[in-house]
Amino acid sequence: MGEEEKFAFNFPTSRGDHSEPDNENNPYVEELDERAEEEDEEEVEYIEYDPAQELQNKRPDKVPSFEEVEIVQGVSLRKGRVSGGEIAELLNDERASTNDLIPGVYEGGFKLWEGAVDLCKQLCEIFKLDAEKLKAGETTGDLEGKKVLELGCGHGLPGILCLLAGADVHFQDFNPEVLRQLTMPNVSENLSRMTMGRRRGSTRFFSGDWAHLGELLSSKGLGGHYDIILTSESIYNQEAQWRLLECIKQVLQPPHAVVYLAAKSYYFGVGGGLKTFRKVVKEDGIFEVKTLSKIQDAASGNVREVLELRFPESIAPYFL
Ligand SMILES: C[S@@+](CC[C@H](N)C(=O)[O-])C[C@H]1O[C@@H](n2cnc3c(N)ncnc32)[C@H](O)[C@@H]1O
Repeated sequence: MGEEEKFAFNFPTSRGDHSEPDNENNPYVEELDERAEEEDEEEVEYIEYDPAQELQNKRPDKVPSFEEVEIVQGVSLRKGRVSGGEIAELLNDERASTNDLIPGVYEGGFKLWEGAVDLCKQLCEIFKLDAEKLKAGETTGDLEGKKVLELGCGHGLPGILCLLAGADVHFQDFNPEVLRQLTMPNVSENLSRMTMGRRRGSTRFFSGDWAHLGELLSSKGLGGHYDIILTSESIYNQEAQWRLLECIKQVLQPPHAVVYLAAKSYYFGVGGGLKTFRKVVKEDGIFEVKTLSKIQDAASGNVREVLELRFPESIAPYFL
């Protein structure tokens, strides 16, 4: 089984709340600005910091070592390893060496959470992906050429699975460091194991808060663009659930596109989870929600689920 870690946030001692990211007084943002200036001076291509910035053609400073994560029998993906010390160094924040969440600074993307593997398994089932098909590059029908976005991707394994099955995949994470040091190397590493001559889907990478992402993507012609949105372990914070939902509504293509979301019923100590998320979706009134699978975690008593969110069939005639 995979190397995914049990979801238990290690809280920072100084700031355990979930207040709005305060960019003006956020040392992390300042640090990025300073780094951008320094790199500009050195004539290194650098994407100016923006709340939702796009990272294209960036190379990781250091390529991590990789390990295998088994998804289903015969299908495994490779993921990079980054130590607590390295995370702290990359984020220039000592707290990140022992904390999985520093609200507004680090949102947990350097670790692989259980929901990511649940989502990968679900995708194998939905799209009938197996080892032979993936290796041979057989058209897996439904995913070939599909436009996929993984929100809060961290390692990005669900997106990578779709990429290997022929989809064009865009990855988003709160932290640009996660994308550069982990997601991008993971994408390259897994693509390098593909059979030569196969169609390679395209990739793009975006970082920043969901509060601005929908707008940013729309400004790049990606509003209402995606056929499939993937996200796992991203609804632990009740306040951010609205931002996530708003972003999804801006970029998901009506009427037939779909969201696959993996999460836990409840996130102890942080307040979010499927219970509150279902309420948010219901209150919003746009999507219909279906449970695709439920996994009981005997040790914690918690339940993990994979949900499907769709626009109601009744809107289809308006999009002919
Ligand atoms: C616990 S990690 C899960 C990472 C990965 N999906 C997994 O399951 O292994 C939560 C992810 O949600 C994203 N995230 C959380 N809050 C966010 C926000 N307000 N804006 C953008 N991304 C956010 C972060 O990028 C982070 O990687």
